Amino acid sequence: MKSNPQKYLRKHLGYLGDVKGKRVAVLLGSSGRKAIPLALIGASVTVVDISEENQRYALEVAKEAGVEIEYIVSDVFEIDIGKFIHSYDVVYLEGGILHYFADLDSFARIVYDLLKTGGRLVLNDFHPIRKFIQYTEDQGIEIKGDYFDSRLFEGAVAYKSMFPLSEQSEFPDCLLRFWNMGEIISSVAACGLVIEQLTEEPRADGNHFLPGSFTLVANKFIVQK
Ligand SMILES: C[S@@+](CC[C@H](N)C(=O)[O-])C[C@H]1O[C@@H](n2cnc3c(N)ncnc32)[C@H](O)[C@@H]1O
Repeated sequence: MKSNPQKYLRKHLGYLGDVKGKRVAVLLGSSGRKAIPLALIGASVTVVDISEENQRYALEVAKEAGVEIEYIVSDVFEIDIGKFIHSYDVVYLEGGILHYFADLDSFARIVYDLLKTGGRLVLNDFHPIRKFIQYTEDQGIEIKGDYFDSRLFEGAVAYKSMFPLSEQSEFPDCLLRFWNMGEIISSVAACGLVIEQLTEEPRADGNHFLPGSFTLVANKFIVQK
């Protein structure tokens, strides 16, 4: 990370722009794998994540990397918005985010409030096509599921499969809501952000004729009506 922080930010650097000296909020920022590289290239970074264990890990890595990050352990819906309102140049979220939220409009409103005027949202997540196209090594590509399903599903906590089986039984499940593209774009637009671009990226597993993820960039402008 120290020798090549840019590598950890991959193609997102192009969307984030020059973050040196900028305030960046990494929501659901987990182990700091994006926040620490951002700090290494000169951003002032705040992570919000619900997990105390993630905080501990991220702060230890940040210390080893020789940078400081602010790490707030909280449900993102419960942050003291008054304390952080209009504070950030960039709000950045990536890699497994929106399915944790049962209310996307309220989440978009939080992002809007965190951003300064002129600030930008960079949101990268799994492509909603996964709602009805699934891939497994044995079965290959299968079309199953309902793109318009709005129910909550019980699912595993992220990275659960990386723990020993004996520990996995202790993990609680979480409720997941899989949003479709129209719902995602509508929530971001409805909160007042102006969508600049939506890029769809191919799957990384060899099925590159299918989308795997998307990146949405939206800006907070003063809109003259
Ligand atoms: C799959 S990770 C997202 C990827 C992440 N950007 C990374 O760097 O690995 C999901 C994270 O969201 C956090 N999380 C889930 N729901 C949350 C919520 N309501 N508020 C804050 N954090 C939440 C989890 O603790 C977990 O670290």
